[in-house]
Amino acid sequence: MDEHDRLDQRTTYAGRKQEQLAHGHSFFPDTVVKDIVVAAVILVVLMVLAATQGAPLELEANPTGSAKPPRPEWYFLFLFEALKFLPGNLEWLGAILVPGIALVVLFLLPLFDRSPYRHPLKRPLATGVASLAIVAVVGLTALAATAPEPAAVGAPQPGAGLTPLEQAGQRVYQTHSCPICHKINGVGGNIGPDLTTVGLRLDASWLVAHLQRPAEIAPGTVMPQITLTSDELMSLTAYLLTLKQAETRTPEQIGAALFAVYCNSCHPNGQAGIGPKLLGVPADQVAQKVRSGGGGMPAFHTAELSDDQLADVVAYTQTLR
Ligand code: HEC
Ligand code: HEC
Repeated sequence: MDEHDRLDQRTTYAGRKQEQLAHGHSFFPDTVVKDIVVAAVILVVLMVLAATQGAPLELEANPTGSAKPPRPEWYFLFLFEALKFLPGNLEWLGAILVPGIALVVLFLLPLFDRSPYRHPLKRPLATGVASLAIVAVVGLTALAATAPEPAAVGAPQPGAGLTPLEQAGQRVYQTHSCPICHKINGVGGNIGPDLTTVGLRLDASWLVAHLQRPAEIAPGTVMPQITLTSDELMSLTAYLLTLKQAETRTPEQIGAALFAVYCNSCHPNGQAGIGPKLLGVPADQVAQKVRSGGGGMPAFHTAELSDDQLADVVAYTQTLR
């Protein structure tokens, strides 16, 4: 582009600006009023939704629970997916450096991109980079959304002999916080009843009603209402109905599963993590430390880990080599 062209563009924009100043909208009050109206409409819609659909609270944060695999909200899934391509020690590169540079470049763009043109085809570099970024974000988000959910640590393995529907229900069970409060075959919390043989005690219609409206079926319950799609509700119920007899497992096996739920986050497989290595720590010392906690380790009381469960965990730690 020669100098003449450039001057020409400048005068055109200057003229357009004068015109807008004379006849256009001003920020105050025109744009501000529009903003207020739209914000008010959204607020009213949210209030109506909250009043009619309810706004249930999620579970209290529980640093020792791993029933719910940590995943970001959908708008950060692309970043989360991108990190999977990097080895762990380079995570900072994908998590901080690259997004940081991208933001700084965007911020400084008006300073170094002085092209007077606006048409995307006349700005091939900017258009190219932006299109690539959009393709990457959309593609990575789609990849992350279709990736299978990681199995919750320590959750029972997909059951042998279950139909696909029942297996789907087992996944719903594992990913919707149920194991935080309920135990199946020795694994899970003690806040709600043990569900190991729930299929013998309760029928489908009761289960469905209870999961949809726990407070109505069992008044005064602390069982939270957990939002499930109708597919999830169906498969979960099918899975619960399969729970009819206790598996026979050794205390060490049950202990290993409990360990995975409660301890692995800090003592990965008994090795050093946030907490120290547990190899060779005598049984009574493990039991005492679990109840007392301290030094950065939470104390586990009987509500989280019954005496029987603690004995199983301790038995497991004694098998660590
Ligand atoms: C915050 C703890 C908590 C969570 C999370 C929780 N429950 Fe419960 N659940 C309870 C409590 C407490 C009861 C007993 C009171 C009642 O019947 O409502 C209960 C009762 C039940 C019962 C009836 C059991 C019986 O023997 O009467 C079933 C079935 C059940 N829950 C299934 C589930 C499923 C499936 C999930 C996951 C979607 C789940 N619960 C999540 C606390 C919880
Ligand atoms: C939130 C992290 C965290 C969790 C969860 C956790 N620990 Fe620890 N654990 C620690 C830390 C940190 C220490 C070191 C404490 C200290 O120096 O006193 C520790 C110390 C210990 C010790 C003492 C080790 C020694 O050499 O004397 C034992 C035993 C132990 N943990 C067992 C367990 C078991 C069993 C569980 C699961 C029931 C568990 N921990 C869950 C963080 C954790």
